Amino acid sequence: MKITVKKGSLADVKTEAFILVFCEGEKTLSGPAADIDRKSGGLIADIIKSGGFEAKPSQVTMIYSRTLAAKRIALVGLGKKNELTPEKIRRAFAKVMQELRGSKVRKAAVSLDLSLLNVRKEKVVSAAVEGAVLGLYRYSPYKTVGREELQDVQEMTIVPGPKDYALVRDEVQKTKIIADAVCFARDLVSAPANEMTPSILAEQARGVAKRKNVSCRVLEKGQMKALGMNALLGVAAGSDQPPKLIVLEYTGGKKGEAPIALVGKGLTFDSGGISIKPAEKMDEMKTDMAGGAAVLAVIRAAADLKLPVHLVGLVPATENLSGGSALKPGDVLKSHSGRTIEVLNTDAEGRLILADALSYACRYKPSAIIDIATLTGACVVALGEEVAGMLGTDDRMKKALREAADATGELIWELPLWDHYHELIKSDIADYKNSAGRLGGAITGAAFLSKFVGEYPWVHLDIAGPAWTTKDRGYIPKGASGIPVRLLVEFLRNRVQEKK
Ligand code: BES
Ligand code: MN
Ligand code: ZN
Repeated sequence: MKITVKKGSLADVKTEAFILVFCEGEKTLSGPAADIDRKSGGLIADIIKSGGFEAKPSQVTMIYSRTLAAKRIALVGLGKKNELTPEKIRRAFAKVMQELRGSKVRKAAVSLDLSLLNVRKEKVVSAAVEGAVLGLYRYSPYKTVGREELQDVQEMTIVPGPKDYALVRDEVQKTKIIADAVCFARDLVSAPANEMTPSILAEQARGVAKRKNVSCRVLEKGQMKALGMNALLGVAAGSDQPPKLIVLEYTGGKKGEAPIALVGKGLTFDSGGISIKPAEKMDEMKTDMAGGAAVLAVIRAAADLKLPVHLVGLVPATENLSGGSALKPGDVLKSHSGRTIEVLNTDAEGRLILADALSYACRYKPSAIIDIATLTGACVVALGEEVAGMLGTDDRMKKALREAADATGELIWELPLWDHYHELIKSDIADYKNSAGRLGGAITGAAFLSKFVGEYPWVHLDIAGPAWTTKDRGYIPKGASGIPVRLLVEFLRNRVQEKK
């Protein structure tokens, strides 16, 4: 969808629908709403007076007019003014755009009078754009029957108040970059595993690297062998697809600046291996590369936004299958770090490939390491489907990530990583074991990862819950969520601001 910003008055825009935004309890119409009300012969005032529209959060009422340039007026509610949040704006815009699409509207225009609202001006704009773009997302490349029904809203025109034009235009441009990156991540995650192999994921990374200051290098099996990445190779051994270690670097920062390493789990399919998963819902394990997809998307957004940061993205990519050479429970692997791992459960494969990628990240002497992984079912049991788990060693970074989570609505909650948890991953015959059983599974998973990050400040995000949603949730339609792309971009933008 194209988003344009226009000066002038809403009623003059050539479009199919006018979107008008209201807070609860607004008795008198003002600005563009009053203008359009007058031109429509009082339709809006009528419907408000009759109680047909109360501006409850995400309430949408459609009015049809014969006298206006646009045939439709969509009234959108944001709830009580003093309780307004960006999240409510995102949800309301997702809802109204979905309804407009449902009634085959191709073009809509909205007036955003920012002074009316109690959320910061920039946030109003970004939340509206995020809600609209993300709410309209759908994954349809494989639909061949009834494609003509799949019409999209093609254009949204925003008409700001006269003083806000420049602010709105800039914010729209930035938010569009971020929302498009989220949709890119959603596309990668939604793609079926036969069309999203490690090689294809690596191709996608090369696509990201077409941008200025972005470069991509892909380590192949031979190089992994030479580097002693036997944990990653071990997981890949059961599959015919060659594994890839994707290295995507963005050098937007000062020369010589230590990078932030973003490490994303890239299991393009996780069958569990010999410790095979039940058949039910195994299809969802095509999403086990959501962490890797997020890394690609964050680097894409950072480059498009020209953020002055240095990022190294590392995505170990492989399938976890049960071919004749597959890992077996009880096998011992010597990892890239030199530490040995006893594989008690081949379904705890994410931590194996991440072990090698994390210790490889240390060669960049990063200022911080953040890993993102659909690591454990236990994290979903603990926090539910909508919240990511956060564990790590650096309090400052955790605080900054919490703030970014609050701002973006991509929820995270910290789990503890106390000393005694580390006892649980000691192996009888090797340094560590890759599974400590069910109890505290999200934490023992993180404890395992912590062994491979050296002394670098490190935070782990377990996104097994929110990476994929089984029901429509406003601006996160059923399917891949693209989490935590907005959260990480916000974190990076805040970090840049702090350094100034
Ligand atoms: N990819 C899964 C975790 C997962 C589960 C992601 C549900 C999304 C939804 C991971 O590789 C896995 O299988 N983890 C095991 C670890 C256990 C064997 C220690 C798990 O959570 O059961
Ligand atoms: Mn697994
Ligand atoms: Zn997995």
